[in-house]
Amino acid sequence: MDLLFLEKALVSLFITIILAILISKLRSKRFKLPPGPLPVPVFGNWLQVGDDLNHRNLTDLAKKFGDIFLLRMGQRNLVVVSSPELAKEVLHTQGVEFGSRTRNVVFDIFTGKGQDMVFTVYGEHWRKMRRIMTVPFFTNKVVQQYRYGWEDEVARVVDDVRKNPQAAKNGIVLRRRLQLMMYNNMYRIMFDRRFESEDDPLFVKLKALNGERSRLAQSFDYNYGDFIPILRPFLRGYLKLCKEVKEMRLQLFKDYFLEERKKLASTTRSDNNALKCAIDHILDAQHKGEINEDNVLYIVENINVAAIETTLWSIEWGIAELVNHPEIQKKLRNEMDTVLGPGVPVTEPDTYKLPYLQAVIKETLRLRMAIPLLVPHMNLHDAKLGGYDIPAESKILVNAWWLANNPAQWKNPEEFRPERFFEEESKVEANGNDFRYLPFGVGRRSCPGIILALPILGITLGRLVQNFELLPPPGQSKIDTSEKGGQFSLHILKHSTIVAKPRVC
Ligand code: HEM
Repeated sequence: MDLLFLEKALVSLFITIILAILISKLRSKRFKLPPGPLPVPVFGNWLQVGDDLNHRNLTDLAKKFGDIFLLRMGQRNLVVVSSPELAKEVLHTQGVEFGSRTRNVVFDIFTGKGQDMVFTVYGEHWRKMRRIMTVPFFTNKVVQQYRYGWEDEVARVVDDVRKNPQAAKNGIVLRRRLQLMMYNNMYRIMFDRRFESEDDPLFVKLKALNGERSRLAQSFDYNYGDFIPILRPFLRGYLKLCKEVKEMRLQLFKDYFLEERKKLASTTRSDNNALKCAIDHILDAQHKGEINEDNVLYIVENINVAAIETTLWSIEWGIAELVNHPEIQKKLRNEMDTVLGPGVPVTEPDTYKLPYLQAVIKETLRLRMAIPLLVPHMNLHDAKLGGYDIPAESKILVNAWWLANNPAQWKNPEEFRPERFFEEESKVEANGNDFRYLPFGVGRRSCPGIILALPILGITLGRLVQNFELLPPPGQSKIDTSEKGGQFSLHILKHSTIVAKPRVC
């Protein structure tokens, strides 16, 4: 059995080498490809650049090869874009041509080959999904309906932390409680549901499965089998695990949330629009035959990943920077005391009256961009970019982190300095009005969740700073802000212990 496999592998390797040489000879005549390291047959540049294609490593390669470069990763073409002009070309000027998404072998599993919205190609299905999701999730009406819920959730966080004597003494891993808050913020919108405590068995199960999905998808460990098809048999165990996690998650969404909501809807009058939560709108679309049940489940899957984790990571980064910059924390607290009055809890409409709070959020999203490479884009057909030919179905990564942290474009970018958004960068907003700063992307595939994420960040960071002095644990002057990059994500490596000393207001 093993010998047979080895023989097959060697024959495939031989044929692939010959084909690769032939194709590369033909290609080099026809195409003017972007610069990049010289690829070798079969492996391309994989042996040279390895698996860890995080934003910092891609920045180093950009310094060597330029603002656009091409990596041949086995069978996949990867084009990395690192200038505001080229980002504009990909996301705006040629937004249709580069508006599709690639999926690798793992994302194929988790999205049912693009039956979702985030990872589907640009076309009819994406348009329909984005339209169906807009009314229940991405309008100001949703913000106005749910902001009381978000304010309530963060008030509960403040209460729980105040009640915990450890918080003021040795500190607690604040993130754990904030994770429950973020689930509740989004599950209220989705299902009109919340979890009472961190020990709620359903919450524990959900959190574990989502965490596993994230770990498996964002890891670089499976790149070799994705890039080089003859190595794919070695990924069998990994892909089996992905399939199991995917099945368990979708089943959980179905059994505990969708079916429950359907039951409730059948026993209550459904003509009251005000009482509808997001999933009711999505189920309406299913009943009209616009989408099927799998699409409904993948919408729930997308929100669990795209909304909860990204916002939680950004909150966690914001807290870390505030702990490590006590003078900024103090300035923020003073702003809220002055504008709102001491002890007046910040609400969603207040966040617009607090420019320093807005600047702290912008600076967090700049330095600690949660999705530093955006979600990978793709061109379905052969295309041109920056004077080069881009072969069809190339993965296009926009290194948004580098655009926002390039010292040629920003003053001392490595410094956490919210003041920059009052001084030299006073016109820059998070909505993509400047191609050097794209924490939510821009254009057709940009983040529709920005409308929810910014107020949630404002309310959460605002309330924490109003109520507590946030400090490193005893004996430490700073908390560890080492990063953990993934396929396109960036979060803090260690969930630090934070001391939260209650303020007497
Ligand atoms: C701080 C929090 C967040 C950050 C930094 C963030 C960032 C991003 C980025 C960079 C993209 C990809 C843009 C591109 O590829 O051009 C994206 C896509 C997306 N985000 Fe967010 N996001 C956040 C919160 C949210 C929330 C709260 C939701 C939903 C409620 C959400 C839903 C989505 C969806 C559905 C997409 C895919 C859009 C598409 O492919 O058409 N995000 N996000």
